[in-house]
Amino acid sequence: MLGVILEAVDLKKSFPVKGWFGKSKGAVSAVHDVSFSLEEQSTIGIVGESGCGKSTLARLLMRLIEPDHGEVRYRGENILALSGGKLQNIRKKIQMVFQNPYSSINPKLTILDNVAFSLWENGASKQEARRKAHYYLEAVGLPRSYATRYPTSLSGGQRQRVAIARALILEPEIIIADEAVSALDKSVQAQVLNLFQELKSEFSLSLVFISHDLNVVEYMSDEVMVMYLGKVVEKGSAAQIYEQPNHPYTKGLLNSVPSMEVGVSTLNNSPITGELPSPMNPPSGCRFRTRCPHARDQCESSYPPEIEVRTGQKVSCILYENDVREKILL
Ligand SMILES: Nc1ncnc2c1ncn2[C@@H]1O[C@H](COP(=O)(O)OP(=O)(O)OP(=O)(O)O)[C@@H](O)[C@H]1O
Ligand SMILES: [Mg+2]
Repeated sequence: MLGVILEAVDLKKSFPVKGWFGKSKGAVSAVHDVSFSLEEQSTIGIVGESGCGKSTLARLLMRLIEPDHGEVRYRGENILALSGGKLQNIRKKIQMVFQNPYSSINPKLTILDNVAFSLWENGASKQEARRKAHYYLEAVGLPRSYATRYPTSLSGGQRQRVAIARALILEPEIIIADEAVSALDKSVQAQVLNLFQELKSEFSLSLVFISHDLNVVEYMSDEVMVMYLGKVVEKGSAAQIYEQPNHPYTKGLLNSVPSMEVGVSTLNNSPITGELPSPMNPPSGCRFRTRCPHARDQCESSYPPEIEVRTGQKVSCILYENDVREKILL
């Protein structure tokens, strides 16, 4: 039976901000009390505007950075408490694909050796690593003749395929894709998204799919989590989030999407207005309140608790607290 493969529990991360001469200017609250769970062989999409903490969350999940608070659990085990060989083994199970494949691809190595490299690093022989690299290049749809080429001769989409093969060769169970198609043309984006879907089923992968593009997230995800200024404002199944969004921010985001395919028909069609506040000085209480059409005094004093509005759909908004809900026409 399939179960939860990855869990974030109350993750928190702030970054100190330094001014002139290294003087502390405060801190950016990048990720604040973020929790979610990812079911095996499913995809969670993480969406939100630039700076809402998506990449910081990804880095926390990979343990590339340490949280100030909270846990990351892989099959129930807190990976933050692990070290040495055990941590190394779990690290292989969680691989990442970034927006910019240039950063992870070595221009001096052939395509084949770029893919084989991480296996050598992990102790495989050259021959074995290259044999597997051929296999994964084929799996991502690159012709065998590409193996001896160098990265500079590839298009953006082909480079992204190499980056995906590099992630796959370590035989991960989870792939975290952070804006993995954002730099690609629309037609190439569609091909790479389809590739992710195929690989997911072929290799029984679970995906964390991060994108600021709501259409991409809708296409890819089983579950969706919406973030705003480091906080989760709403989560639920993709159908719930796209067809029956609850949080004023989710509604505003969907109303800002140009595509008519997104289920916005029941909404009042008002996109988000106003400036994104500085993450160094986020609003007290609900962080969205300064841009929220429904904001009231109560939103200022405390952050709204997470309320389950439908089975599996949770929203952090005072509008959904029982006593207030009755008085407001949603
Ligand atoms: N190493 C760091 N030092 C200081 N601040 C940081 C650091 N990394 C991220 N931040 C800040 O944390 C906040 C969240 O950044 P993050 O990169 O996680 O957002 P994001 O949602 O991935 O944005 P984008 O959509 O632009 O990729 C931002 O305000 C960012 O400036
Ligand atoms: Mg990012």
